[in-house]
Amino acid sequence: MIPDLKGFIKPGSVEDALVRRLDFKRLPVHVAVIMDGNGRWAKRRNLPRVEGHRAGSKSVRAVVEASARLGIKVLSLYAFSKENWKRPRNEVALLWSLLEDYLKKEDRILVKNDIRLRVIGQKEGIPASVRRQIDRVEALTADNTRMTCCLALNYGGRSEIVDGVRRLLADPKTDPAALDEDSFGDALYTAGLPDPDLLIRTSGELRVSNFLLWQIAYAEIWVTPELWPDFRARHLLEAFIDYQKRERRFGAVSPGGGAGSAKP
Ligand code: FPP
Repeated sequence: MIPDLKGFIKPGSVEDALVRRLDFKRLPVHVAVIMDGNGRWAKRRNLPRVEGHRAGSKSVRAVVEASARLGIKVLSLYAFSKENWKRPRNEVALLWSLLEDYLKKEDRILVKNDIRLRVIGQKEGIPASVRRQIDRVEALTADNTRMTCCLALNYGGRSEIVDGVRRLLADPKTDPAALDEDSFGDALYTAGLPDPDLLIRTSGELRVSNFLLWQIAYAEIWVTPELWPDFRARHLLEAFIDYQKRERRFGAVSPGGGAGSAKP
């Protein structure tokens, strides 16, 4: 077993069996996750929706650690969309307070595991107390290199593209003739990060919900019926195993390789 998994995955467990089926040389580099189903999880237990979000933050902890230990380089989590402001006030307030708590409490775990935090989204619209925590944890983890955890907050894929266009138009150095897909990508919140190889969505919904619209152009999509609060390392491993069975062609004809084959 690879050293980072010792003590994390119990020998003989379901996770251990799944890890043995993985090819560590062909892991997705960037994994993006649409965490869905918190509300349904709570409803099934006759609990208020907010309890689903509370349980969902435990899955966030588990998935961040598992991804770093497995060797994922970028993990993007869709935590609060621009559309989420339309939810009842108490739910919105609880979501922001959970996010603030996460940043206050998980900073040590991020540092200990050499994980860099990067928030993507319209930071100006984020409550001031959460923004302070974001600035603090981003600065604290800025030099960490094992994995980047990209937290999408007050995020919308279309707004990201519009913000990118605005940024380019406002820059006198922008040369329309020289603009190409790579330089446009550099105007997005995710500048410098590779595009997601794998997009995971929980709770069975078959939508991309305005998440990383530009960046997921060639991502493999894996949907599980599991609700986010029940999602753990074993589901991540199932997603990676399925990903490794895919043939990624990036629009070309079959190159003969499986998932992870080189982009032309
Ligand atoms: C979707 O479930 C989930 C969200 C809108 C928020 C995700 C937030 C968390 C997982 C908790 C906090 C996050 C961190 C990073 C600590 P839903 O409410 O839409 O579920 P439903 O479709 O069943 O109603």
